[in-house]
Amino acid sequence: MSDVQSSRIEGLHKMTPAARLQAVARQAGLGNEAIDSLSAAAEGQIELADRLVENAISAMAIPVGVATNMIVDGREVLVPMATEESSVVAAVCNAAKRCRGTGGFFTSGSGPIMAAQIQLLGASDPENVRLKVYERFEEIRTICDETDPLLVKFGGGFRDLEVRVIETDEGPMTIVHIIVDTRDAMGANAVNSMAEALAPKLAEWTGARSLLRILTNLADRRVVRARAVWPLEEIGGAQVRDDMLSAYRFADADPYRAATHNKGIMNGVSAVVLATGNDTRAIEAGAHAFAARSGRYRSMSRWEKDADGNLVGILEMPMAVGLIGGATKVHPTAQANLKLLGVQTAGALARVIVAIGLAQNFAAMRALATTGIQKGHMALHAQNVALMVGAVGDEIDLVASELKALGKVRQDLAEDILKRLRGGQ
Ligand code: MEV
Repeated sequence: MSDVQSSRIEGLHKMTPAARLQAVARQAGLGNEAIDSLSAAAEGQIELADRLVENAISAMAIPVGVATNMIVDGREVLVPMATEESSVVAAVCNAAKRCRGTGGFFTSGSGPIMAAQIQLLGASDPENVRLKVYERFEEIRTICDETDPLLVKFGGGFRDLEVRVIETDEGPMTIVHIIVDTRDAMGANAVNSMAEALAPKLAEWTGARSLLRILTNLADRRVVRARAVWPLEEIGGAQVRDDMLSAYRFADADPYRAATHNKGIMNGVSAVVLATGNDTRAIEAGAHAFAARSGRYRSMSRWEKDADGNLVGILEMPMAVGLIGGATKVHPTAQANLKLLGVQTAGALARVIVAIGLAQNFAAMRALATTGIQKGHMALHAQNVALMVGAVGDEIDLVASELKALGKVRQDLAEDILKRLRGGQ
């Protein structure tokens, strides 16, 4: 436990990372062990960390596992997944193997279309403001495209305009959406710059005051769909299939279950988003908002049975990821992971990610509808618990296998086993 006297540290951002670590450690009363851990974790990473974030003192390695067995649109693909959670990668490998016979995952996408919002307020005639904005369509196109000529050169740029009047607690507001093709970029920088360039003009043309100018993460024009068919024999028979369908209907009807069901999907999705240096929070915000678009929070996936009794899974969600910009371009691990994936466009990356989400969902539902989740987690979880209690080297496997044999992966038991192994008692 550190004891911070004050959270003020003068000039921290101007120091080198090493000096910064010392200054933070001094202030927090950190011992040498913690300082060494933070400094060792950052080895070879600290320069990049210092460029990516303010006040960098260390870096944190997240394991990257490779999902095997994936076929996406007829292409065999090895998928890097960055996750700290046991059995996420194994679950995808297993689910993907079970649908290889039916061709794997088939996908489609609506294109790299993002939107930014500009908030116009203070007008007594918000509907009039709305139409005045539409009348400026061509000028708006010019302003947006002139803000990002490079994007236009690569075939992207302004595409459309949508203007709505919304009711709020302080009365009506006119909300302008600029709709932009962002090509292989995630698009936040492009659409935010356009919105900021446009806002003063909108205020001038309409007499309203412009306030917020920012993209929406509810990227419902950048939706990607994946589907797959799992043959009955790969599921474990008709009863398991029907129980999986009941599990899906439970999630679709009940937000308490939907949150967990969708969390499982995001286990797969966010792991690939992170491995490729993309923005996990943007994807998560968009995914959950999209899942609630009917006014009720529902399952992100859909499940049904086909005429032959096989299980059909469908996942449809916004997927605003890019190949250029942000950490994707500057992080060498993200670049290497993209090479491994072999995708040439942001759209192709998005399709693999949604396929992984669907695979993850299949694996979780199948486990839950049969043996439960703990059995599959047991082996990897046992290793984690062994590490948690301080096992090192060979001790890790010895403690983990004793825990597994007991069928109880508990920290107190792991502590006892370790003590005994070390000749304690
Ligand atoms: C655990 O990280 C994910 C699950 O809870 C997903 C689910 O319940 O569907 C197993």
